[in-house]
Amino acid sequence: MLKKDFCILGIESTCDETSASLLEGGQKVLSNVIYSQIEEHKKYHGVVPELASRAHAAKIAAVISQTVGKHPVDAVAFAHGPGLPGGLMVGRVAAETFSRLKKIPIIGVNHLEGHLFACEFEDGEVKYPLSFPLIALIVSGGHTELWYVKGYGDYKVLGRTRDDAAGEAFDKVAKLLGLAYPGGPQVSAQALKGRRDAVNFPRPLLPGTWDFSFSGIKTSVSYYLRDHKDVSVPDICASFEEAVCETLVKKTIQAAKKYKVKQIAVGGGVAANSLLREKMNAAGAQHHIAVRFVPRGMSSDNAAMIALAAWRQLEHAGANALTQKWDININPNLKIKNWGK
Ligand code: KG4
Ligand code: ZN
Repeated sequence: MLKKDFCILGIESTCDETSASLLEGGQKVLSNVIYSQIEEHKKYHGVVPELASRAHAAKIAAVISQTVGKHPVDAVAFAHGPGLPGGLMVGRVAAETFSRLKKIPIIGVNHLEGHLFACEFEDGEVKYPLSFPLIALIVSGGHTELWYVKGYGDYKVLGRTRDDAAGEAFDKVAKLLGLAYPGGPQVSAQALKGRRDAVNFPRPLLPGTWDFSFSGIKTSVSYYLRDHKDVSVPDICASFEEAVCETLVKKTIQAAKKYKVKQIAVGGGVAANSLLREKMNAAGAQHHIAVRFVPRGMSSDNAAMIALAAWRQLEHAGANALTQKWDININPNLKIKNWGK
């Protein structure tokens, strides 16, 4: 049994946010400091890996120091993949150094699992523990995955994107339209002023599989821009957003029905999207499936979700699993795995 005030320091550095967080008793977020690198990447309309690594290296110590202060820490967890190699290495070195200096255990966490567990938070606390079995949709800038989740650490990956992630498609379409990075919020804001039925962009449903593919929609947008003059940016944004959200919702609901689950959890940066929320909630209500979205403040990359994923792993494995083995390799292509007993 872990003591009630067992405190985990989470570290997140997989993409363009440098974050550290303290989670007490697997329940309460004592702090969650996030340094966003958006300003550094904005002019390139996307994350530049080399700049990201440098920014993580420059900020991680200060972010951890600000998070921890003088608070005791019992274990340190870091996201060891998937993500950009440079950022992952910075996270690993920071976590290992902290672990060795404080003589506390170290835990490696899959970043995508973090996005799922972020759904349990509300107002800085775990208020909505997941109820199983469920279908999880993880939609971010780097990933779009659909999982059947039977319990904590018990996953079956049903499908993932074959090309662009949903967030990446938002970012690329924003770039085509001359909107700022990150594109999701920009496209979404423009879409509010446009007609969702203005352009009939494709809905790539890939029948017979649970996979996604978003590069075709993006290409359709680029052909549309090439072939039309005087286009309405709000109309394109609204029609594009409609096509992406409809595809995500249809496949997720189909999976929920096929696997006969009563809950859907949606995490990752794109889960902040209002149309996705509206459509998924409406479809869930229609099919009597509860839909749990990550709270907006926790949808993008943060270390509280990494700390919570580590806590869930420890609860599952028992305190005996706590070790000071510093051989947790980073893996930029880390896939989701079931937790062993
Ligand atoms: O989870 P996240 O912070 O980072 C990754 O792990 O990738 O997700 C970032 C992605 C970006 O592609 C961004 O454009 C997208 O999430 N995003 C949105 C919205 N807010 C952020 N996409 C659509 N609508 C939004 N409101
Ligand atoms: Zn992420």
